[in-house]
Amino acid sequence: MSNKIIFSGVQPSGEIHLGNYLGAITQFVKNQDSYSSIFSIVDLHAITLPQDPDLLLQRSREVLAIFLASGLSHTKNIIFKQSEVPEHTQLSWILSCTARIGWLNRMTQFKDKAGKNRENASVGLYTYPILMAADILLYKATHVPVGDDQKQHLELARDIAHKFNTDYKSNFFILPEPLINKSSMRIMSLRDGSKKMSKSDISDYSRVLMTDSNDEIHKKIKKAKTDSMKMPDSLEEAESRLEINNLLNIYCACRNQDKKTTIASYASKEISVFKKDLAESIISVVEPISMETNKLLDDHNYLDKVLSEGALNARKISRKNLSELYALIGMIKR
Ligand code: AMP
Ligand code: TRP
Repeated sequence: MSNKIIFSGVQPSGEIHLGNYLGAITQFVKNQDSYSSIFSIVDLHAITLPQDPDLLLQRSREVLAIFLASGLSHTKNIIFKQSEVPEHTQLSWILSCTARIGWLNRMTQFKDKAGKNRENASVGLYTYPILMAADILLYKATHVPVGDDQKQHLELARDIAHKFNTDYKSNFFILPEPLINKSSMRIMSLRDGSKKMSKSDISDYSRVLMTDSNDEIHKKIKKAKTDSMKMPDSLEEAESRLEINNLLNIYCACRNQDKKTTIASYASKEISVFKKDLAESIISVVEPISMETNKLLDDHNYLDKVLSEGALNARKISRKNLSELYALIGMIKR
């Protein structure tokens, strides 16, 4: 194992979709042999927006089942639920004394999620990026695989780490680097090529779920919004047509195929022909994962046990790091 440490988190706030899989989970799996990796199901982040308690518990298990079904090993990596490791919230408080209000005010995800009625958003939604910084810094993670939408939060984590180190004249925190997969960094909604595919979109047709049946995938791709032209015949043309460009990106990511080659093989063909092949390409990725996920979800006890073992291992690191930090900031004797 190298001395690089990966940390990433996924919210159990909705069902895992193809954007999560291609943007984040494939990277987790790819890196698990070369890095020592820690993955968290961040249920404390999820409650920054209202959640049904029973559903939240079930969705946390579902995220774990999808991780395992995607090939993520719970013995090679540490996989745990954020709420089972109290050091995250403890560190979050300390870091909220380092972070500046002006920094949080720049966060675009808060602006998007809070919408027009900002005064009525939860304080947790506003300080969300500080808890995320705590997740990462608690384990002194060096690399954070995320989709492109999380880049700004990661920069904030670096700013917090840097200011903390300067304020306390130490090099306690490591400044984490993002790991972003270029080809699948931002998978867009199937209904609107200008919005990212998201767990919280009101339309089920905006996303392909990792548990969708083959029929559902065919239906969603058939209904996916496009213009009424033929398939593009150049990269420039593809990139100027939002929705078709997104479908091409999904196709390339699912097949692990170069975009120029893909464009050349469909140039000037009917979009319906491409859509059929696209649905099949997605199914080849989703079907084995959804079958395995459903099997795993039959055994709650097993999934809960994996999570509690993960939390025990995570706490070995988090306790040690937090107590060193407490000594540094004058909470306990050095
Ligand atoms: P979330 O659904 O917000 O918990 O995101 C979990 C992970 O998936 C994060 O690393 C995100 O950056 C990534 N992600 C979420 N939505 C997308 C998307 N539409 N395209 C690519 N990556 C995404
Ligand atoms: N904010 C991330 C998202 O919505 C989830 C997350 C929480 C995370 N803590 C993290 C991602 C730490 C990476 C590292 O996608």
